[in-house]
Amino acid sequence: MDNKLYIGTNTKMTKTIAQTVSFLEALDLLTADISRDDMTLFVIPSFTALESAGKAIAGKNIRLGAQNMCWEDYGQFTGEISPVMLEETGVEIIEIGHSERRHVLHETDEWINKKVLAALRHEFISLLCVGETEAQKSLGIGNETLSIQLKSDLNGVVQEDIPKLWIAYEPVWAIGEGGTPASADYADEKHAVIKSVLKELFGESGAAIPVLYGGSVNPQNASVLAQKANIDGLFVGRSAWDAPLFNTLIRQVLSVL
Ligand code: PGA
Repeated sequence: MDNKLYIGTNTKMTKTIAQTVSFLEALDLLTADISRDDMTLFVIPSFTALESAGKAIAGKNIRLGAQNMCWEDYGQFTGEISPVMLEETGVEIIEIGHSERRHVLHETDEWINKKVLAALRHEFISLLCVGETEAQKSLGIGNETLSIQLKSDLNGVVQEDIPKLWIAYEPVWAIGEGGTPASADYADEKHAVIKSVLKELFGESGAAIPVLYGGSVNPQNASVLAQKANIDGLFVGRSAWDAPLFNTLIRQVLSVL
């Protein structure tokens, strides 16, 4: 693992094209002086905004991602967006298996695995999200859940793919309005579990895969979380959607690392 802070946001279904472009322009200006040797900054907007977003930040220091992707290149998949189509937009990262896609839209590990493999085949970075539900946590099967998700979703991923793989640990009970942020100790412990599964899957080179924490990250908990040994970055929702507030949070975190 390098010592960079990985930090980014998925804007979910909250910004129009115009709002995405002005958010990105503002964030780029505000963070322009921060060395990218210290930080990888990424934004994952809605599909409709990707082309304009790509143009707005071309040659800039913000990396762009998509919130989902079909595993097929072409075909009879009404409503889906393929890797070939995403290549045209200039995105680098594909977010796969976000909790809302798993639990609201009922995506299965089988689909998620196909998406991870398709993203890697197309040389995108796969940002795979995993996390246990409240029920799994109370049954004491959080670690098992993470292990099942990682082993199913990364089935067929090989050593050479490791530089293109990021993981986000996002406990379902911690995400969004009404979510309770995981304590830094709890998150660190689960990140350690994830890292040990990655080691089981890929050997020592699994340690190079960044593992980001997401779920109600806010200005009060961001620095404490980011300082934990097994937390390599933060995946922020609501606290990132205003560019000046996100910039403040980023600087606060960088100042303690
Ligand atoms: P939140 O979203 O920070 O608003 O909880 C996190 C996420 O869903 O990635």
